[in-house]
Amino acid sequence: MDAFSPVPLSDAAYRTLSDLVYRHSRIRVGHEKQPMLTNRLRRRLTELGLASFDEYCDLLRSNRDPEEIEHLVDFVSTNHTFFFREGDHFEFLRDRVLPEFARKLPQRGLPLRLWSAACSTGEEPYSMGTIVSEHLRQHPGLQWELEASDISRRALHRAEAAIYSTEASAQIPSDLLKRYFQQGIDSQAGRIRVKRDLRQKVRFHRINLFQPDYPVSREQHVIFCRNVMIYFDADSRVEVVRHLSRHLVPGGYLFVAHSESLLGIPHDLESIQHGIYRRP
Ligand SMILES: C[S@@+](CC[C@H](N)C(=O)[O-])C[C@H]1O[C@@H](n2cnc3c(N)ncnc32)[C@H](O)[C@@H]1O
Repeated sequence: MDAFSPVPLSDAAYRTLSDLVYRHSRIRVGHEKQPMLTNRLRRRLTELGLASFDEYCDLLRSNRDPEEIEHLVDFVSTNHTFFFREGDHFEFLRDRVLPEFARKLPQRGLPLRLWSAACSTGEEPYSMGTIVSEHLRQHPGLQWELEASDISRRALHRAEAAIYSTEASAQIPSDLLKRYFQQGIDSQAGRIRVKRDLRQKVRFHRINLFQPDYPVSREQHVIFCRNVMIYFDADSRVEVVRHLSRHLVPGGYLFVAHSESLLGIPHDLESIQHGIYRRP
C-alpha cells in the first residue's frame, strides 16, 4: 500500500465493518462515515501489517485479537463533549437533587452515588464533581461516590489524564475554574488540569452499555447518560433505559440529553423536566 495506490474499501467490506460495529456497540455507522473511516482504517492496516480490508475483516471475524473491535469502535464513535453541557441539568443537580439527598442520606449513613454512563473524555463527570464539591463546601457531611464509564478506551485515557485546552476554560465558571483546575506551565502552558482531589474522586471504567452486567452499584441516585442514545436505534434505546433504570434507587434520577426524550420508549420513570426522569 502506498500514497499512490491506496487500499480500496469495498462496499461489501464496509458493510461487514458496520455490522461488526453495530453488533458490538449498537452504533449505526451510516454511509456518510465511509470516507472518514477509510482514511483512519488505512493507517490501522499499516500498523497491523495487513494488505487489504478483507484481511482486516477476517481478523475481526476470527476474534484472534478480541481488542481489535474496540479499536474499530473507537474510530467510529463520536466523543464530542464539553464542560457543563446542557447547563440546566447541572442547575437541577445543584438546586434540587443535592439538597434532597443531603437531607436524607447522611442520617442513614449512605453515600450519594452518581454515574456518568457515557463520559467520553471526562468533561461531564468532572462537571458533576465540581457541583457536588461546591455543595459540600456549604453543607459538609454528605459522603459521595462518582463513577464514570465509556465504551472507548481512548476517551477514557484522556478522561483520566484530565488535561484540557484553554478553550475548555471558557466553558467553566471562573470561580470553579480557580478552585478545581490547575493552570499548566512550561510544556503544558495554555492547558488546564483538574486538581488531584477531584480527579481521584472519579472512578473510571470501560463499560459497554450493552454488556449484560454493569460493574457499578445498583443503588445509583443520579445517572447521566446523555448524547449517546441518539446513535442507537429504538430497540437498543429501550434496552439501555431499562438496564439503567434497574441501577437507580427509588427516587433516583436519570438524565438524558435534551434531544433524547424518552417519548415512544416504554419505561417506568416519571418525567420531571426536559431530559430528566425519576424512578418512582
Ligand atoms: C457524544 S459523547 C457524549 C459525552 C457526554 N455524555 C455528553 O453528553 O457530552 C458519546 C459517548 O458515548 C460513547 N458510547 C457510544 N456507544 C457506547 C456504548 N455502546 N456503550 C458505552 N458508551 C458508548 C462514545 O464512546 C462517546 O464517548
